[in-house]
Amino acid sequence: MSDLSSSEMNMSGAPLRISLIAAVTRSNGLGSGGGLPWTLPKEMSHFRRCTTFLPPSPSPPAPPPRSSSPRGAKSASPSTSPAKDQRMNAVIMGRNTWESIPEKFRPLKGRWNIVVSRSMNVSQLGASGQEGSNGSPAQTLLANSLKGALDHLSKLQSLHLLGRTFLIGGAQLYAQALLTLPQHSSTASDDQQHSSTASNDLHASPFVLDTLLITRLKSDLSCDVYLPEFRSDDQIRLDEKGTRDGSSTVISDSAGQQESKSRGRWKRATHEQFNEWLGATEKDLLPAGAVEEKGLEYELQMWLPAQWCFSSTHRS
Ligand SMILES: NC(=O)c1ccc[n+]([C@@H]2O[C@H](COP(=O)([O-])OP(=O)(O)OC[C@H]3O[C@@H](n4cnc5c(N)ncnc54)[C@H](OP(=O)(O)O)[C@@H]3O)[C@@H](O)[C@H]2O)c1
Repeated sequence: MSDLSSSEMNMSGAPLRISLIAAVTRSNGLGSGGGLPWTLPKEMSHFRRCTTFLPPSPSPPAPPPRSSSPRGAKSASPSTSPAKDQRMNAVIMGRNTWESIPEKFRPLKGRWNIVVSRSMNVSQLGASGQEGSNGSPAQTLLANSLKGALDHLSKLQSLHLLGRTFLIGGAQLYAQALLTLPQHSSTASDDQQHSSTASNDLHASPFVLDTLLITRLKSDLSCDVYLPEFRSDDQIRLDEKGTRDGSSTVISDSAGQQESKSRGRWKRATHEQFNEWLGATEKDLLPAGAVEEKGLEYELQMWLPAQWCFSSTHRS
């Protein structure tokens, strides 16, 4: 696997910030038989909302240059008109996850879709994998490594075409992200500026995994793929408090084998921080506490690097 932290910084100098979004069972189960062992429409809407919400641009693109006539006459269009915001968020996924999305729903609308695969070719992506006739970039892109996907998105970021970046699965991609991507940066400077309590020993990195959006199901369903554990034992116990039987979580063997070196490096954000991150207003606040849907209970959580200061200076 390539060393993701050694790549060159993208052209804009700001690191590419990545959010991981996943729904997991009580013991980190992600899926079974190539699909999800649950059908939760409201949870799916939460996924859509998180991955499509576009925060205001930290550095708006410059307005288009004035067109000048040969005699130096002013352009008819007002020079002060703001440039159109052409950004979209991006979702990165492994080939199995791409294939698990019903054809009629892919690519995921209004987002750059990046599929990571060594075996696919561009023609298998369908029409959305083709460049527009005006040379506009294809909405679905193929990358032969996670680093290739992130490099590509760094370019879109430097062209002001990218909002937020989400890693949406599956198990292989999540594990690579949790195990290999730097999880904090001293050069955080865009819409999510944070003060760090440990910034002196941090090095600049072109990519940084800085947000985990976790839907935590309160029960266990049979799964064959798992998210590596990222919580400390104490955090697991805290998460457990809401479960009905109150017994301690047994982390499955497969999750245990891939135990993440990031364990305990994340801290649960508050409900207010999550709402702020999502630009929620009074009318569309996220539900606090447990949500019940189709007989299953779950909680919508956001986790941030523990190094970040969780005081009022936090502006996520
Ligand atoms: N609960 C959730 O939130 C959630 C979200 C997404 C998915 N899932 C579940 O997760 C399961 C799918 O996960 P998965 O681990 O089997 O598959 P996956 O991570 O979606 O895709 C794995 C494939 O991605 C490609 N790949 C992975 N790492 C690569 C790398 N470094 N370079 C190049 N290609 C790479 C390979 O494709 P090639 O073989 O083509 O090279 C590999 O076979 C399903 O059950 C799905 O429903 C759950």
